[in-house]
Amino acid sequence: MKFYLKPTDPEKLDVDTLLLFSWEDDLSPFDKFDKEIFQLIKEAGVREQYEGKEGQFLILSTKGIISPYKLIIAGLGKKEDFDLFGLYKAVASAVKKAKETKPVKVALNIDEEWNKKFSVKEVVQSVVEAAYLSSYHFIKYRNEEEQKKIRQIEEFFLLLAPGKLTSAEEGLRFGEIFSQATVFARDLINEPSSVTTPSYLADVAYKIAKDSKGRVKVNVIEKDELKKLKMEAFLAVGKGSDEPPKFILLKFKPNQPKKKIVICGKGITFDTGGLSLKNAEQMETMKADMSGAAAVLAVFKALSKLHPNMEVIGLIPACENMPSGSALKPGDILRAMNGKTIEIVHTDAEGRLTLADAFSFAVLKEKPDEIVDISTLTGACMVALGEEIAGLWGNDDKLLERIEKSARRRGERIWHMPLPKDYKELIKSHIADMKNVQTGRFGGAVTAALFLSEFVGSTPWVHLDIAGPAFAEKDTPLVPKGGTGFGVRMLLELLTNSEF
Ligand code: BES
Ligand code: ZN
Ligand code: ZN
Repeated sequence: MKFYLKPTDPEKLDVDTLLLFSWEDDLSPFDKFDKEIFQLIKEAGVREQYEGKEGQFLILSTKGIISPYKLIIAGLGKKEDFDLFGLYKAVASAVKKAKETKPVKVALNIDEEWNKKFSVKEVVQSVVEAAYLSSYHFIKYRNEEEQKKIRQIEEFFLLLAPGKLTSAEEGLRFGEIFSQATVFARDLINEPSSVTTPSYLADVAYKIAKDSKGRVKVNVIEKDELKKLKMEAFLAVGKGSDEPPKFILLKFKPNQPKKKIVICGKGITFDTGGLSLKNAEQMETMKADMSGAAAVLAVFKALSKLHPNMEVIGLIPACENMPSGSALKPGDILRAMNGKTIEIVHTDAEGRLTLADAFSFAVLKEKPDEIVDISTLTGACMVALGEEIAGLWGNDDKLLERIEKSARRRGERIWHMPLPKDYKELIKSHIADMKNVQTGRFGGAVTAALFLSEFVGSTPWVHLDIAGPAFAEKDTPLVPKGGTGFGVRMLLELLTNSEF
């Protein structure tokens, strides 16, 4: 799909479908249109009981009165409730609706009203991302006939008032780069784990470095070196697998960086639970337990095109969690790279063990100003926040606020959760410094975050638990069933928005 900006009157562009939007109970903005068309819209609105509520559509043929062949008006709900998440949803659903009739050329009219609440750049970027991401399919394993059935929109025109082109162009460029990165993450997550082994992720990182014209550097630390670094916790998780673990390090360093930030992604390429084996249903989607790693790789793929003024270090402790004769066992005691000891109660709480060493490595070797981790860490977070909202924890109010703003700007939903120090009691061990699972059944996502906090020292840090939104169990307008690429856009926003 190719995007174009056009300061054109929507009635004059020769396209298959023109997408328009209306607030609840208000068709009056269309009175600017040709009288006959306005009359048609009003009549159809009454006849089809169109109220402009979210998820409602009014579809009509223009009968040759104006240049577009067909009109789709999508409801946005109440003006006062309108936010960027609503805009993403409305644009994605309207594009989905338009695609039912397989149009080749589509135009979308950017309402002046949206620019009263959000900047032109923000609106254009969001529209481009919503249109691009709603058109994603993972079809490489389908037969040719099925693949041919999917016809993409070829040209997508964004219509806006003249005089706004410069900021709109920036929005368009960012929208395309952010979407391509998200789709890159989705593809990685959707590939089966037999393909996306730790070695495969390392090769992806090398390829990103190669394509970056020297801007991204990659170093993969192998098992023997990891032993020397005393990463016992990370190595223990991969012990039961035939796939060798890989600790992937990516670096992007501009000339005069403002600060140094580590982004760390959980990279369990398949999580069986280990000897504390998951049941078949729980294991079904565990190829997606590397969604955090996929997000970090996707960010690096985009970074060299965006020129942020921060040094960015990507850390991916990648391994497979398998049961076998050499696997980690409940009751084992591990010493992480920072010297703290961990009693293993449950081998399915493996992500935090890999992150413990990744954070220790970050603090001891990289000494960053900030650490952000993105991880499919706990089922408990899904219980708390559902499948579409990620949990957010952190030890620094300013960083927390920046990540919350970044998420809001890109229409990704996260919710700030507490880090109560007294809950540390729940992960106290009688035999080691801590245990990897809490006493009792409750607060699993909070105690996991508290466990992680033991390895960041005093470095400002935020943790995103994306167990829910990383993988869609059913089709939604913005993403078909499968990997979502959640987090890629908010991380890119955090790293590139100069306001932050
Ligand atoms: N990878 C899982 C978390 C997860 C669950 C991600 C569902 C996506 C969907 C993690 O490694 C895990 O198994 N956590 C356990 C921890 C428990 C044993 C304390 C969990 O949440 O059940
Ligand atoms: Zn697990
Ligand atoms: Zn896991």
